[in-house]
This record gives sequence, C-alpha cells and structure tokens, in this order.
Amino acid sequence: MERFVIKVIFSYIILIGFGVQIIGGVQEQPLRTAFHFRPPKNWMNGPMYYKGVYHLFYQYNPDAAVWGNISWGHSVSYNLIDWFHLQDAMNPNEPYDINGCWSGSTTILPGPNIPVILYTGNNFADEEVQNLATPKNLSDPMLQEWVKSKHNPIMSPVDDIDPKFYRDPTTAWLKPDHKTWCTLVGAQINGYGAAFLYKSSDFITWKKADKTFHLSNKTDIDLDYYIIGKYDWENDGFKADFEFMDERIRLRYDYGIFYASKTFYDEAKKRRVLWGWVTEADHPADDMRKGWSGLQSIPRSILLDKSGEQLIQWPVKEVEKLRGRKVTIKDKEINSETVLEVAGITASQADVEVSFRLSHLKGVESIDESSYDPQLLCSQMNASVRGAYGPFGLLAFASKDLKEQTAVFFRVLKRQDKFVVLMCTDQSRSSLKTPVKETIFGSFLDVDPNQKISLRTLTDHSIIEAFGGEGKSCITARVYPKLAIGKNSHIFAFNNGSKSVKISSLNAWSMNKAHIAKAHDHNQ
Ligand SMILES: *[C@@H]1O[C@H](CO)[C@@H](O)[C@H](O)[C@H]1NC(C)=O
Ligand SMILES: *[C@@H]1O[C@H](CO)[C@@H](O)[C@H](O)[C@H]1NC(C)=O
Ligand SMILES: *[C@@H]1O[C@H](CO)[C@@H](O)[C@H](O)[C@H]1NC(C)=O
Ligand SMILES: *[C@@H]1O[C@H](CO)[C@@H](O)[C@H](O)[C@H]1NC(C)=O
Ligand SMILES: *[C@@H]1O[C@H](CO)[C@@H](O)[C@H](O)[C@H]1NC(C)=O
Repeated sequence: MERFVIKVIFSYIILIGFGVQIIGGVQEQPLRTAFHFRPPKNWMNGPMYYKGVYHLFYQYNPDAAVWGNISWGHSVSYNLIDWFHLQDAMNPNEPYDINGCWSGSTTILPGPNIPVILYTGNNFADEEVQNLATPKNLSDPMLQEWVKSKHNPIMSPVDDIDPKFYRDPTTAWLKPDHKTWCTLVGAQINGYGAAFLYKSSDFITWKKADKTFHLSNKTDIDLDYYIIGKYDWENDGFKADFEFMDERIRLRYDYGIFYASKTFYDEAKKRRVLWGWVTEADHPADDMRKGWSGLQSIPRSILLDKSGEQLIQWPVKEVEKLRGRKVTIKDKEINSETVLEVAGITASQADVEVSFRLSHLKGVESIDESSYDPQLLCSQMNASVRGAYGPFGLLAFASKDLKEQTAVFFRVLKRQDKFVVLMCTDQSRSSLKTPVKETIFGSFLDVDPNQKISLRTLTDHSIIEAFGGEGKSCITARVYPKLAIGKNSHIFAFNNGSKSVKISSLNAWSMNKAHIAKAHDHNQ
C-alpha cells in the first residue's frame, strides 16, 4: 500500500457552457496580467515535461469567437514562466472527434520515453469517446505535430454510461508489475459523478474494470477538492484517510477561484507541479471589451505536509527570477487600527512575503463549536469587522485613500478551547466599479498562532494568489480596481484587531513581465 493523493474528478462536467470567447480590443489595459500565463483561449488540458521542454495544451476554437471546433492549442516553455505559442496539436477532423477534441491528459511511456495524449472526442453522433494521439517526430523537442491513432476510438461508452457524460481520461499510471496501465475516465451514472477504471497492457486495447469510483453529486461541481488516502495496488482500491464528505475536513487546493486543475511530474526537478485555471469574475461585457478571459495560476510545487494530512503548495522557484526591486521591513509593531504602506515597489505587479507574530493571545473570541464553514465565517467576520487578533494582513490593490482595497487577512479564534486561525480574502471593497462578484473567500489555516503566521501574495493587476502558512492554504481571487491601477495601486500591511501584532519580517519585490508570445514573434 502506498500513500496517494487522488484528485476528485469533478471536472468531468465542465465542458459545456463556456460558449463565448473573446476577441481582442486594442486600448489601454491596466488590468491585463503581466506574468501569468494566459493561453490564447480557454482552459488547460495536459501539462507535461519532455526532454527539457514544458508543454501545455489547452482547448479553444481557432475559427471563431464562439464555442465549437474545439482544438488542442499548444504552448511550450523552458522555465514554466516564459511561454511560446505553437501551432495546434490537434483539430477536430476525424469521425471520432469531428465535434471537438475535448479534454484529456498526457502520459510519458517509459522505456524510450514516448509522450502520448489520451483525450475525449465528441464524435459524429455527438457521443463522447476516448482517443489516443502520439507525436509525429520524437526528435522535434517542441513536439509540434501529433498523429491520432488508427485504433481510435479506444474506449467507447457501454452499459449505463451516459454517452454525453463520459470524458477527461487521466494521466495513466503503471502498476508495479510494469505491465498494466491504468487510467480513470470520468462519467455520470443516474446523475451521480463516477470514475471508471480502465486497464491496458499496450495502451491501445483498454478494458473497463469492474471497479467504479463513486464520487459525488453535482452540488460542488466547480470546486477542486482533493482526498488523501492509500492506494491498494492488489485490488485497485483507494481508501481515503478521512470520509470525503465530512465537512470538517474537506480539503481544497485553493479556496478561491481555481478550477479544472491538473498536475504533472517534472522529471528534471523531481517535483510534482499543480496548475489551475482561473476564470474572470468581471462582467462578461467587460471581458469582451478587454479581449481576454481567464488565465493560469502560477504553477505550484506540491508536497504532502509532514502531518500527512494535507498538501503544501508553493509557487515554483522559477517565478522568483522575475523579482526586481526589493524592499524589506523588519520587527515592526502594527498597533490596532494601523496601516503601514509597503512603499517602493510596483504594487500591482508584486511578490510579497510577510510573517506576523502575536504575543500572549489573551481575550481570543470564541466561535460556535459547529462553525466549520470558513467561507461563511470570513463573510460574517469580514475585513470590516474588528476583533481581538485580527483582522490583520495585507491590503492589496489599494487606492491611497483605501476606498478600494482587497484585504487578505487572518483572524485568531477559539473553538472548544482550541485556537483556530482563519485566512480570508475580502473583495467587497475591491472595486468602485458597479458591483462585480464581491465574494469573500476563506479557509482554516492549520498553524499554531503562538508561532509565526506567514503570508505570501502574488499580485498581477487583476489577480491575487495568496499562500498562507507557507503553502498550507491558498486563496486565488480576481479583482478589477478602478482607482488602484498602475502607479495608483498600493500595498499596505494592516491591523484592525484591538491587539497589536508584529511584522517579524516582510520582503517585497516588484515583479518583471514574463515573455509570453507566439514562437514566431520571438524569432523576430
Ligand atoms: C468550424 O470550422 C469550420 C471549418 O473551418 C468552419 O466553417 C465553421 O464555421 C467552424 N465552426 C465554428 C462554430 O467555429
Ligand atoms: C524531426 O525533427 C528534427 C529536429 O527538429 C528535424 O531535424 C527532422 O528533420 C525532423 N524529421 C522529420 C521527418 O520531419
Ligand atoms: C449532494 O451533496 C450534498 C452535499 O454533500 C448533500 O447535502 C446532498 O444531500 C447530496 N444530494 C444527493 C441527492 O445525494
Ligand atoms: C461584513 O460583515 C458585517 C457583519 O457581519 C455584515 O453586516 C456585512 O454585510 C459584511 N459585508 C459583506 C460585504 O459581506
Ligand atoms: C477597520 O475597522 C473599521 C470599523 O469596522 C472600518 O471602518 C475600517 O474600514 C477598517 N479598516 C480597514 C483597513 O479595513
């Protein structure tokens, strides 16, 4: 038996409904991101690393600004930060995928190391089937051309599988016998989410195993949960450490906007990298005007925490190469109702790492023993609600007068005599524009408040990714300030609790722009 983290395949149902795509508008774009990867269109399929190059595939319609002709776009990078867009890897042009080359995954077959794609095709009959594709020329490090297998489709819906909900093959894994490949295909049976296990010895002939993994109903379809447990190779069983539906211990990669995530193993750096798709929260009409919609999170290294009970996520080291001018604050007490500007950096395009220390912890407020919904707590005790220890943290994308501000903050509470640390982002004052989504996000942060409480934020014009407790909880939010743009954007450390807190250290950097362009542009 082996420790194993399984991603819950809720994404099996995400395909429809993203009908509208965006055509570019040329105008000043203060909210356009500078160092986050934005595929030309739509969301991610399989990322992978192969012979020195990172590949990212994503879905989009090359022909029109509407849903249709879904193809696999393809971009490559040497460092996960700077990207070049290549020609499409696949277009819908065969009977088994004529209505779309939908989502899928990549797998590297060992031995001579051959990367392959398993993907869902929407076929001539509007049914979903699974297909295989391989690179045309393995000597081309960019793997620009892909060939679909003559055996396609290699998996088709049988029995009571709904052919309209049968998709998203995972990266395949090899059993310890080194002969049997396994993959999961997401499906829906009688309205319930499920994943079917398929096995193959040659990657072409796949047999559906009796085993079905029942996941959940559709309630939380757009949230990316994960489960930690043990995989039993003998019986192909997965035993979760905790009851997944137990609301007290539901774990999410990210407690904000983070969707359709994928991981891949980076052989070069011996790490597993997680990526998520971050949608817009602006008015669709404004998305249209801006000419872009959605982007990728900064890739994150993921590790299992020492406790074995949760994952740790941290922006890949490579993002630090974009760090420019640095400012530092050390051992600075922030009294109640005080803000302290982190001056001297480009606040709308920045990387900030801060550690807070609290003393004594006396007079901590108690919450009800049944309060296990962090998002609800963060909404009720949002950044405007003063407590004893908290709210304290950072005010990002803030105008000088604080009329606009996005608070990323902590609050120390007690539940049944145990300390609880709440981490929240509050967008309710993030924009003076007519209200966009003013969601407040929240997570419990598994740290001891007698020790330090740390926060890292990556701000990039209209996105803020926050990492609490050195990666124990992550919250990604989209914000669309009207005043706090360009030079008028500020970052403050703040404390609005009645007790003072101390910044033991704060390091902040201006961030440079990443190079993201067509391969062709790069050559000019
Ligand atoms: C799909 O592609 C065909 C051929 O390029 C084109 O005529 C058609 O308009 C496209 N459909 C959509 C919905 O983009
Ligand atoms: C395969 O790719 C290599 C490296 O780019 C190139 O030199 C070679 O000509 C390609 N072979 C074919 C058949 O296209
Ligand atoms: C779906 O899941 C939610 C949340 O776990 C639960 O409250 C609800 O009862 C479930 N519905 C069905 C039909 O199982
Ligand atoms: C902030 O919290 C207060 C007190 O619970 C509440 O009245 C107010 O509506 C909250 N604001 C938002 C934007 O949720
Ligand atoms: C601090 O709390 C007061 C009272 O709720 C509120 O008016 C003020 O905006 C808060 N300050 C910050 C920086 O959120």
